[in-house]
Amino acid sequence: MPDPKKLFIKTYGCQMNVYDSERMAEAMGGEGYVVTDRADDADMILLNTCHIREKAAEKVYSELGRLKPLKEARPDLRIGVAGCVAQAEGAEIIARQPLVDLVVGPQSYHRLPELARRAGQGARAVDTDFPEEDKFERLARPRAAHGPTAFLTVQEGCDKFCAFCVVPYTRGAEVSRPADRIEAEARALAAAGVRELTLLGQNVNAWHGRTEDGTEGGLAALIRRLAAIEGVERLRYTTSHPNDMDDALIAAHGEVPALMPYLHLPVQSGSDRILKAMNRKHTADAYLRLVERIRAARPDILLSSDFIVGFPGETDADFEDTLALVRAVGFGASFSFKYSPRPGTPAAERGNQVPAEVMDDRLQRLQALITSQQRAAQDGMVGRTVEVLFEKPGRLPGQMVGKSGHLHAVHVLAPEAIRGQIRPVRITESGPNSLGGEVAA
Ligand code: SAH
Ligand code: SF4
Ligand code: F3S
Repeated sequence: MPDPKKLFIKTYGCQMNVYDSERMAEAMGGEGYVVTDRADDADMILLNTCHIREKAAEKVYSELGRLKPLKEARPDLRIGVAGCVAQAEGAEIIARQPLVDLVVGPQSYHRLPELARRAGQGARAVDTDFPEEDKFERLARPRAAHGPTAFLTVQEGCDKFCAFCVVPYTRGAEVSRPADRIEAEARALAAAGVRELTLLGQNVNAWHGRTEDGTEGGLAALIRRLAAIEGVERLRYTTSHPNDMDDALIAAHGEVPALMPYLHLPVQSGSDRILKAMNRKHTADAYLRLVERIRAARPDILLSSDFIVGFPGETDADFEDTLALVRAVGFGASFSFKYSPRPGTPAAERGNQVPAEVMDDRLQRLQALITSQQRAAQDGMVGRTVEVLFEKPGRLPGQMVGKSGHLHAVHVLAPEAIRGQIRPVRITESGPNSLGGEVAA
């Protein structure tokens, strides 16, 4: 047997890229590659990239700059760019970056081994097609679990075309994977020791497919089916669009114990004028009413959201509407970003861009409010006993860390043997980004 070749993958962006990187590693396993965590002894380096904001895309080019000496020292090294930058700028990358040997878009990962073979023979290979054949059917099923939690892509792509967003162009049209294949993957993961599955999709709650009795169903039906699998104790899903939260899914939050009380439901802005300009197709009030219905089904649910500040045309009054919405909802966590004009998106062409210093100021104010809400949600856990799924050792000796149902990181002093177990923990302290507690008897 020859020594296995080594593959180093660097992953940027969202959770779907994390899932995709594992699939690519498995596909290359069939070509005799094993994964290494060091770029400097790899035979192949893959950058799995993100195009969502300008900063994210720039990281790829600066990383390629850092890899240059490595490639010069070892001309046999193969360098590939995958992910959303690959999809958006494929031909340009090959033209501008002589050290890149292959470029592969998210819908072509099943063709990676073939591309790598061509690159190995000295050709520079690009594949950014949206092929007819089913990528997932041709990609290997997950072979090994990397701990008690796992991602599972159930839906990919987006048909919503928010005016700021590149995802519909980089990931393509909305596609739902068939329920049978999702169930088979979930069973394999559970058998490998996974206790918590996070179902992924750019618009995960737009998932639809045939359910067991042959009728069409939505994400709620899929969740009920997966919750019935032995070993699957916890389910989450991300990311959802408010307009696809149907009655059945809301009801599932009250009725399926495995469905965890945390929901990421991005609203982006609290101003109807801006929501309209963003092409979000919902109002602030519709979002607030939806939150009420979700909380009626599951009163203890924690909600989180994404926000964009400084979308073209956003006035002080629009921004105040966003702050008012945040105060009205009370989020358990949130992510906020300065608007970043993306090539090819409608909003990037608009004239009324917001000055950088105004954006900075708004971002700071919004983040201060979000942080205070996040701290309040965490502080409210002190004194309560919550179930924690333990994932790994903590920073300090003897410490183990896991996640509560509300997705709070919780650390305790406990033996490593509790890894993979769900244990009740009495919360005793709330820190900036995590909770501390004691495993209850
Ligand atoms: N599919 C998900 C995630 C999209 S990207 C969804 O629909 O929510 C994650 C977040 O990045 C978005 O929710 C949005 O808040 C932010 N984002 C997307 N495009 C952006 C842009 N051009 N500038 C700044 N933030 C952006
Ligand atoms: Fe982007 Fe909007 Fe689709 Fe989310 S719903 S991926 S923000 S276009
Ligand atoms: Fe980024 Fe693509 Fe995910 S643009 S956020 S890696 S879908």
